[in-house]
Amino acid sequence: MQKNTQLVWAGRHPEHHNGLVNTPVYRGSTILSATMADWAKLKKRQSEDEHGVSTYGRFGTPTHHALQEAIAAVEGGYRSLVYPSGLAAIASVLTALLSAGDHILLTDSAYSPTSQFLNRTLSRFGVQVSRYDPCSGASIDSLIQPNTRVVYVESPGSETFEIQDIPAIAEVAHAHGARVVMDNTWGTPLFFKPFEHGVDVSIQAATKYITGHSDAMLGIATCNRETWTCVKQTSYDLGQTASPDDAYLALRGLRTLGVRLQQHWTSGVQIAQWLEARPEIDAVLHPALPSHPGHTLWKRDFLGASGLFAIAMKPVSQAGLDAFIDNLKLFGLGVSWGGFESLALPFTPGGRTTNHWKYAGPGVRLHIGLEDPSDLIADLETAFAAMASTEADIAQNVEVTESIV
Ligand SMILES: Cc1ncc(COP(=O)(O)O)c(C=O)c1O
Repeated sequence: MQKNTQLVWAGRHPEHHNGLVNTPVYRGSTILSATMADWAKLKKRQSEDEHGVSTYGRFGTPTHHALQEAIAAVEGGYRSLVYPSGLAAIASVLTALLSAGDHILLTDSAYSPTSQFLNRTLSRFGVQVSRYDPCSGASIDSLIQPNTRVVYVESPGSETFEIQDIPAIAEVAHAHGARVVMDNTWGTPLFFKPFEHGVDVSIQAATKYITGHSDAMLGIATCNRETWTCVKQTSYDLGQTASPDDAYLALRGLRTLGVRLQQHWTSGVQIAQWLEARPEIDAVLHPALPSHPGHTLWKRDFLGASGLFAIAMKPVSQAGLDAFIDNLKLFGLGVSWGGFESLALPFTPGGRTTNHWKYAGPGVRLHIGLEDPSDLIADLETAFAAMASTEADIAQNVEVTESIV
């Protein structure tokens, strides 16, 4: 089945819901049984891990189960579980797979709250963390310790967009008995197939592209057979559950993920190419551009590119950068990404132990939404003009001050 057909059908069972096309929002805590025999049967089916069976709202309603079934099918894993946010999914999976005395190798390009969770919380429970260069590939072998249980990957990396050689990393990790956990939010279940590349658990911040409309928080972890029971049990122990309303929004977003991503991809590349030719820019960090150091790996392993990338500006004053951002009218200023709207967010990558930011100017992360790219380009052009005018004013003031002195 082709990807858009699968997106339309995955996890959908109208015959169980009075013929309704969409699985409705099932809100609920208590789930009643008619008799003691039925109650015993229900508990047994849940203990045998039957998909879609739940004795209590915290273990999911048909809305959650529909989403879990759909994501597992599209991402190509064994089973999925939903969480109230992407970070909750990350924290639960890492808690499940790591114990006191274990070691995790974390890519230096990981989403910074992931690193913070490990350093601030799991470290208190005796988990050791070390970071590796996201561009390392098989050479992570030399960093593996006898107690390494997890190698964490995120490709492309947060803010800096390094592409990782996941098959090579997975081969090394598995040879040492470690699991590979991936933040696959950028690739989405459509553009990177984690289980075909050796990943054991794939995490989606469904807050981003899957929901796609900036109106819900949700996380999803998809596991292979080997990791499923452990991840599920720990997540249940932690009381993880998500709102059925948000699960519904994610399911609705999933149906149009293919067409939305196609537009994010095309517009993103068009704007990245336009930016590459701008004099204000030092580099455009977009894996689909041939100039990107990870372009060959991206072409080998990915099936497309979403709309998030970064630009490294040439050195600019803070006032100039502020003028650039403040004069963008179609790009919002705010965190998150993956919605229909464009966003711009300046950043200075911090906390890196390897692969430091090598550009003299600041970074700006851009999310290219579903607006017409020509309008976005015109908006960027106006903002660059405002930045140039601020820089010229500053230079003139310096000249005047110097002549007075
Ligand atoms: C790469 C990545 N992973 C995970 C998350 C966390 O997702 P959430 O905000 O749903 O907790 C984010 C959020 O920005 C992210 O950018």
